[in-house]
Amino acid sequence: PAEKLKDGLLSVQSQEADKLVAELGGGQQESTVSITVVGASGDLAKKKIFPALFALYYEGCLPQHFTIYGYARSKMTDGELRDMVSKTLTCRIDKRANCGEKMEEFLKRCFYHTGQYDSQEHFVALDKKLKEHEGGRLSNRLFYLSIPPNIFVDAVKCASSSASSLSGWTRVIVEKPFGRDSKTSAALTNSLKHYLEEDQIFRIDHYLGKELVENLSVLRFSNLIFEPLWSRQYIQNVQFIFSEDFGTEGRGGYFDHYGIIRDIMQNHLLQILALFAMETPVSLDAEDIRNEKVKVLRSMRPIQLEDVVMGQYKSTTKGGVTYPGYTDDKTVPKDSLTPTFAAAALFIDNARWDGVPFLMKAGKALHTRSAEIRVQFKHVPGNLYNRNSGTNLDRTTNELVIRVQPDEGIYLKINNKVPGLGMRLDQSHLNLLYSTRYSKEIPDAYERLLLDAIEGERRLFIRSDELDAAWALFTPLLEEIEEKKMIPEFYPYGSRGPVGAHYLAAKHNVQWG
Ligand code: NDP
Ligand code: BG6
Repeated sequence: PAEKLKDGLLSVQSQEADKLVAELGGGQQESTVSITVVGASGDLAKKKIFPALFALYYEGCLPQHFTIYGYARSKMTDGELRDMVSKTLTCRIDKRANCGEKMEEFLKRCFYHTGQYDSQEHFVALDKKLKEHEGGRLSNRLFYLSIPPNIFVDAVKCASSSASSLSGWTRVIVEKPFGRDSKTSAALTNSLKHYLEEDQIFRIDHYLGKELVENLSVLRFSNLIFEPLWSRQYIQNVQFIFSEDFGTEGRGGYFDHYGIIRDIMQNHLLQILALFAMETPVSLDAEDIRNEKVKVLRSMRPIQLEDVVMGQYKSTTKGGVTYPGYTDDKTVPKDSLTPTFAAAALFIDNARWDGVPFLMKAGKALHTRSAEIRVQFKHVPGNLYNRNSGTNLDRTTNELVIRVQPDEGIYLKINNKVPGLGMRLDQSHLNLLYSTRYSKEIPDAYERLLLDAIEGERRLFIRSDELDAAWALFTPLLEEIEEKKMIPEFYPYGSRGPVGAHYLAAKHNVQWG
């Protein structure tokens, strides 16, 4: 009953909830959470995981009793891990006045254990240390697999069996990539299920933790003005655009094995598309939402090769500075055909979306860094102002833009009369810019997702059947691209990408926003 009470208190900060449970629990055991970052010496751990954990601590969102362990092969002492964590603090909290003091407190809860990922013995030694910190409390364990995918299963095997005698829960956050096609993804799922139940596996897609992506359902389902328009009747096309103004710097070895379609489209953009296009879920329960996402993914038409454009960035010199091409990276083969840019047209064959093009565009080393969703509406039927030759708005339609990053915001392009005695129209924006509307800074996606994993909230994690549906959609296309050794169009570093993307959009009667 005490744990049920705690579930009901999820909206209260976790520390508060723990205290209340301890007071009201009628003799129930106090609980503790041990978080083990497997691969703690790596890039993601330094850049995202430790900073997110610190931000959660700072905000009072971690339970009263918690311990964080870094685990990797590199030899490090607790002190060296703490040094590393404090030096790489990149989270939003570093702007706060008492950050240093809180950091000191946080670091005292961080420890390090050196071990191999496939050594039962080393994980048992870790387990012993964790038990000392847990001090006989009800122990919950969260493992974050921040390691290359080929060692996921070894680590899960050792971690899960070393923790088998626990009284609390054990959960494992798994980082992408979840395989590189249907077959390898299914093999990974099967291997993980040898050691874990599906509800212990938290497959992370950090785009689902981004504030504006989370807001998508709120926008759609809690505003009467949007949901009635959300169909083929009013929407002409939808665009999901991801662009980065830097190349694969430092991750070329990984990237060359995957390419932009697997790295961004099959997961981040497809996940957003599913949230955008799904039917209204029965409730906000994780299973209800994921059921709807799976349904829409399974309604998608196989992607045709002629509806895909691929590109690869090449070296360019601008203002005396030379920017490297993709194959200049030493970890990338000189003759690599891996796309660093792709655009594709996708279709959902259901009653709501029949015939509406869903365009995706993703690229590295482009002119700007942004991620956005653009909803372009149809023309106003019989528009009075189109017929009036005195106006200047013949072809302008409404567009709703959800800017995921940077400068998070939502704006709606509307046609408006320019004030004055004449009748001139222009296009203006109804603009919700987060930085002016809300004073609180936006949490990093990893903060949201780590907190959800600790609280057992699965809504923003990928269920195995969602993953199967996503791979089923992309695998035939990827196989065809690889079999036919399709050559990507070259585009200069820092440009807008290959011109083929414009032809693809034009073919579907669309202009990129
Ligand atoms: P790293 O390549 O930095 O690897 C993490 C740690 O794993 C390393 O510090 C190393 O620790 C260990 N390791 C590396 N290669 C091997 C190997 N071949 N065999 C055994 N151990 C190895 O990865 P990242 O931190 O960049 O990423 C971690 C995971 O997150 C990966 O699955 C990646 O795909 C995913 N990811 C990463 C992102 C990023 O921005 N970095 C973004 C999204 C996902 P040690 O030698 O000390 O054991
Ligand atoms: C990762 C990709 O999943 O997302 C990277 O592997 C990409 O290639 C990154 O750079 C982008 O994430 P964000 O949050 O910086 O937009």
